[in-house]
This record gives sequence, structure tokens and C-alpha cells, in this order.
Amino acid sequence: MAKITAGVGTSHVPLLGRIIDINQSKTDDWKPIFSGYDFTREWIKNEKPDVVVLVYNDHANAFDMTMIPTFAIGCAESYAPADEGYGARPVPVVQGDQDLSWHIAQSVIQQGFDLTIINQMEVDHGLTVPLSMMFDQPEAWPCKVVPIMVNTVVYPAPSGERCVALGKAIRNAIASYDKDINVQVWGTGGMSHQLLGARAGIINRDWDTAFLDKLSNDYEELAKIPQTEYIRETGTEGSETVMWLIMRGALGENVKEIHRHYHVPISNTALGHIVLSAED
Ligand code: DHB
Ligand code: FE
Repeated sequence: MAKITAGVGTSHVPLLGRIIDINQSKTDDWKPIFSGYDFTREWIKNEKPDVVVLVYNDHANAFDMTMIPTFAIGCAESYAPADEGYGARPVPVVQGDQDLSWHIAQSVIQQGFDLTIINQMEVDHGLTVPLSMMFDQPEAWPCKVVPIMVNTVVYPAPSGERCVALGKAIRNAIASYDKDINVQVWGTGGMSHQLLGARAGIINRDWDTAFLDKLSNDYEELAKIPQTEYIRETGTEGSETVMWLIMRGALGENVKEIHRHYHVPISNTALGHIVLSAED
């Protein structure tokens, strides 16, 4: 049967994708940020996930104000990088896993989550930057990806409780998939940041640190945090961090934190990164 073996949380700062694309990520200037991913890059070479269920938000690239699904699942054969206004990133096309996507869609929808099914979609930095942070610049991405797209751009984003519950439903779905594959779940976005408006630049290290501290064993408490608190404490785009709770919900009760990295600032953002192994 398929098994979820680990979860990864990571910010998806577009500038970092750009720095990798222009071959600057190994310079001394960028070391304090990228060296925090050295552990994960080595670890994932051994883990070799067959599929990553990659939870991210689109940033008005694949979707605009005419259509705002709260939770959606990609069921396409592949996903091209989106042109975000400065051309598409020069990264490989993301290969999907249609069998697994449709299995998750069926299972999760029948557990009560009415996911929007997307059969054609371009993917922006929310999805491609985490792949670059983990895998650098390969000819082809070394795993398939099932995109789970969450609206965090237009208020209201979903609640933490709903995100944990979706993660649990994804866990059930994968446990009932009869192919023997190694699945990871990644939650992306955050941590504290606001890009525009009067509070642009707000960073809240204490709040972010408490979130990372509670993610392993007190995630049900994190689930009670209302969206208004994410926005008040961590800025409008800090609400992206709620997506990490989908990853956490998918990992089962017992996890082990095996790596953490936190860096302030990069762009308007506090960068957070965590690796949790699933111990159940
Ligand atoms: C930026 C954009 C993002 O989507 C994000 O999550 C963090 C930073 C930016 O434009 O700098
Ligand atoms: Fe973002």
C-alpha cells in the first residue's frame, strides 16, 4: 500500500527561485539561507519519494478573481511553470500522477471535502520554488507531484481546523491506495510576511517560532488559531502558513522533527523550513 513517510514545510519565496535560476545560490551572500536546506537536500536523496502531495497557493497566476476555489486538486498529466510576468521559470515541467490524484479526489470528496478538480493548470512559484529548494536544478524533477491548491490570497482563507481535517482525509486516501509507493506531503508558504499596504514588511519571529514549536505535538492547538490572528500577527500573506496544517494533519499522531531552519529576512518574508518524519 502507499505510505506517507514524511512531511516538509517550507516558505516559497519567489526571489529564491530566481537566485537558483541565475546560478547564485551557492555564493557566500546567499549561504545563510540556502545552507538551511543542505540537510533536506541530502536527506531527500535517500528518501526518494515517488510522489509529493504539494500543498500550495496560487498567486493570481492560474486563477484570478473570476474563480476562487478554496481547495482544489490537480488531476492533470503535467503542469507547466506559469509566466508570472517575467517569463516562465526555466525549470522542468512538473509531472503529475493522475491515478493517485483521482484516487485522492474520490476518497477525499467522499469524506466530505468538496475539492475542485483541475485538469489543466499552470503552476507558479508557490509550487515550483519548493521543488527548487529541495532538488536544485535537475533535468527532470525526481518525483511526481499531486498539487493541492488552497486559496490564501483572497480573504477568507480556510480555517486551521479545516486544513488539519483535510490533511487527515488525505492521509486516509493514501492509506487506501493500493500501489506500493512512498509519498511525502509538503506544506508551503508563509511564514510571517506582508507584501503590500501599510504593514508591508511586518515580521513576527516569536509567533513563527511558537508555530514551529507546536507543529509536531500541539498541532490541534494551532488548528484553533483564527485567520484573523494570522493576519494580525504575521501580516496578510502570513495567512499562507495555515497550509502547513494540511501537511501536519496528513502525518498521523506521532512525528519526529528532524530538521528546522528559520531565516529573517528574505524579501518581505520570514523564511521557515521544517522536516517531520511520520512515526505511526
Ligand atoms: C513573496 C511572494 C510570496 O508568494 C511569498 O510567499 C513570499 C514572498 C515576494 O514577492 O517576495
Ligand atoms: Fe506566497
